[in-house]
Amino acid sequence: MIRIALIGCTGSIGRQTADIVRRYPEKFSFSALACGRDGAALEALCAEFMPAAALCGEGSFTPPAGVTKLAKGEEARLFEDCDVAFIAAGGFAGLRYTLLAAEAGKKIALANKESLVCGGELVMRAVRERGIDLVPVDSEHSALFQCLAFRRDAAFSRLVLTASGGPFYRFTQAELARVTAADALRHPTWNMGAKITIDSATLLNKGYEVIEAKWLYETEFDKIGAVVHPESIVHSLVYFEDGAALAQLGYPDMRVPIQLALTYPERLPCEKPLDLPALGKLTFLPFPAERFPCFSLAVEAGRAGGTLPTVLNAAAEEAVHAFLGGRITFPMIAETIGCALGAFPRAEAESYPQLAETDAAARRFAAQYISSHGK
Ligand SMILES: NC(=O)c1ccc[n+]([C@@H]2O[C@H](COP(=O)([O-])OP(=O)(O)OC[C@H]3O[C@@H](n4cnc5c(N)ncnc54)[C@H](OP(=O)(O)O)[C@@H]3O)[C@@H](O)[C@H]2O)c1
Repeated sequence: MIRIALIGCTGSIGRQTADIVRRYPEKFSFSALACGRDGAALEALCAEFMPAAALCGEGSFTPPAGVTKLAKGEEARLFEDCDVAFIAAGGFAGLRYTLLAAEAGKKIALANKESLVCGGELVMRAVRERGIDLVPVDSEHSALFQCLAFRRDAAFSRLVLTASGGPFYRFTQAELARVTAADALRHPTWNMGAKITIDSATLLNKGYEVIEAKWLYETEFDKIGAVVHPESIVHSLVYFEDGAALAQLGYPDMRVPIQLALTYPERLPCEKPLDLPALGKLTFLPFPAERFPCFSLAVEAGRAGGTLPTVLNAAAEEAVHAFLGGRITFPMIAETIGCALGAFPRAEAESYPQLAETDAAARRFAAQYISSHGK
């Protein structure tokens, strides 16, 4: 029985993780559940799965008898009883949980991108010092992990991340200026939470994935590329010295990488097998970095490192929130991020409190920028 502490249980990834636990009750159970605001959904999950402990970061909830209610500040206790810490919280909030899970010495299944984007140095230091098994959940990084025979330290010559291209791949600048939140939330192939769906439309998400790949596979930015693949069947590729490339294929369904992160190298029945003749053909197109500045902003911040990726992410979280609320246009997401990056000097990333301070300051900057330049 694998006991899972699931952080972000009420979100898109969290709910799909619960589906897997429902499907294999003899293999998995929840030792702890945590979420941000949705206390009612947390209550329902607690009643169904009866974890030992549960925590609601910002909302209120009443757990059923037998489930210990943890208070804010007691997050470390979520990891006391687990075999795997599954970090599926959204945003910068995920970093703290990842660091606490690493401190507790637990295996980490990492869906939260911001942990490595903002805190890559801190997380990887803890992972190395404590010999933590850090397993990617993101479909692209899971694909790379599979192609590397489940070894993050395996040799390769290049990593290539695939991108659907989002809903606006063929849009001109003028068309991009007119897109609405509803347009951007209509992702062509994946069904995900709102923030990552908008990040897929701006291609910021692919920039995040480049940074994640740099940390996960301890490589250089120059060895990581991206290609557009609208069908989202090839989830990423690894090139080797001899010119060979390995790819991992599957229908776009996050339950496959979620499940594999829990059981690897063992595989459990999950998706239907690929029907290649029914697919007909697979398409690969150039990556349109010049029309989607968020991608380059992310990669540049990642290359600069230190506190700058935290500035990038904080500004992005504020800007996406404002875009979803109809307060700024689509191109203003990149504009807000660019201005925030220009306003903060780089410092070495030294500690979580320092990054939390940077996050708060960059959010204040972005909120101010949005209120003076928005609609
Ligand atoms: N969705 C995907 O297919 C996908 C694929 C790859 C990677 N990811 C990454 O996985 C993460 C989650 O994505 P998602 O799409 O599942 O997001 P989502 O649907 O927006 O869910 C976010 C989850 O985080 C929880 N949360 C927020 N603040 C929290 C806090 N302070 N403490 C504990 N939990 C907190 C939310 O709780 P409440 O709802 O209760 O507020 C919710 O359960 C993101 O980093 C995303 O980039 C997602």
